[in-house]
Amino acid sequence: MNSYFLEDVINGLRKIPKAIPSKYFYDQRGSDLFEQITKLKEYYLTECEREIIINQLPQALRSLGDNLNIVELGAGDGTKTIDLLRSIESFVPSVDYHAFDISFGALQKLSQRLQELTNKIKRHYSVVDFSKGIELMTGDKTRRNVLLFLGSSIGNMTPEESVHFLRTLSDRLNPGDRWVIGFDLVKERAILENAYNDSQGVTREFNLNLLKRMNAELQTNFDIESFEHVEYFDENLSSMVSYLQSKRDQSVTFPILERSIELKVNEKIHTEYSFKYTDQMIKEIAQGSELKIVWEGQDQKCYYRLVMMEK
Ligand SMILES: C[S@@+](CC[C@H](N)C(=O)[O-])C[C@H]1O[C@@H](n2cnc3c(N)ncnc32)[C@H](O)[C@@H]1O
Repeated sequence: MNSYFLEDVINGLRKIPKAIPSKYFYDQRGSDLFEQITKLKEYYLTECEREIIINQLPQALRSLGDNLNIVELGAGDGTKTIDLLRSIESFVPSVDYHAFDISFGALQKLSQRLQELTNKIKRHYSVVDFSKGIELMTGDKTRRNVLLFLGSSIGNMTPEESVHFLRTLSDRLNPGDRWVIGFDLVKERAILENAYNDSQGVTREFNLNLLKRMNAELQTNFDIESFEHVEYFDENLSSMVSYLQSKRDQSVTFPILERSIELKVNEKIHTEYSFKYTDQMIKEIAQGSELKIVWEGQDQKCYYRLVMMEK
C-alpha cells in the first residue's frame, strides 16, 4: 500500500470542501481511461496540441542547436511525444530523452511506443511523483535542457502552485534552458464543458475510478453507484472543476485507520482543476516564475497554445 496515498486522501477528506489530489487518478486503469479520453472527439486538447507539435514546434527547437537534453514531466503514454522525437531525430546527431511520470502503466506504453525510434534518441524512464522533487539530469552545462510539460498538465495546478512549481524546477536549470508548456485557452463554455462531460461517459468513469482505486488500495468501501461525476466551468476561477458528488448521506470506512468519514447528500469531493488560460494569465505565470516567453505556437482553431519560456 502507498502510504502517501492514504495520508493525502485522509488529509484531503478532512478539508472543507473535501478534496483528493488529481495525481491519484493515474493507476493502471486511470491511465488507460485517460488515453481513451485523449481520443474522444469532444476532447479537442490532444489534437490541437499535436497540430502545433507537428507543424510548428520542431522549427522552434531546431533553432536551439543540436546538443539537447529533453526532459518530459508527466509524459503519459507518449502519443504526441513520438511525433516530436521523430522530428528531433532528423536534425540531431544524438539526444537524451528523460520521461517522468507517476504512472508505471503509462511509462510502459510510452517505452513500447518509442521503440520505433532510432538509437539517436537515448531513452530514460522514471516512475516518480514530480511534486515530491526530482533529479532532473540537467547538470551538464554544455547541453541545452528543454523541459516539456504538455497536455495542459499545468492546468491541474492553481496559477500560484504553477509559479511555485516552475520556480522550484527552474532553480536546477542553466541560463538559456527552455520550458515548453501546453496551455489550454479560455473558450466558449459549451466546448469546455462537453470536453469534460463526453457522450460516452469516459471522463465520468475516469473520475469514479478514483473511488475504485481507494477501495482496492486503501480497503475503503465507497459505494461507486452512490456518487456522480460533476464537472463545470467556473468562470471566476477560469477553470473546469471536477467533483465526485454524493447522491445520499453515507459513511465510508477506512479499516486501516479504524475510522470512517461522513458525507451528506449532494456533498462534493473536489478531484481536479483544469485551468483555462488568457494571454494575461500566461504572461503572469511566466513573470512570476522569472521566465521569459521566447516563442508561442497556436493551433488553427486558436483553442490551445504551446509556449516556450527561457530561464
Ligand atoms: C493530463 S495527463 C497528460 C499526459 C501527457 N503529457 C499528454 O499530453 O497527453 C497528466 C500526466 O501526468 C502524470 N502525473 C500527474 N501528476 C503527476 C505527478 N505528481 N508526478 C508525476 N506524474 C504525474 C499522469 O500520470 C499523466 O500521465
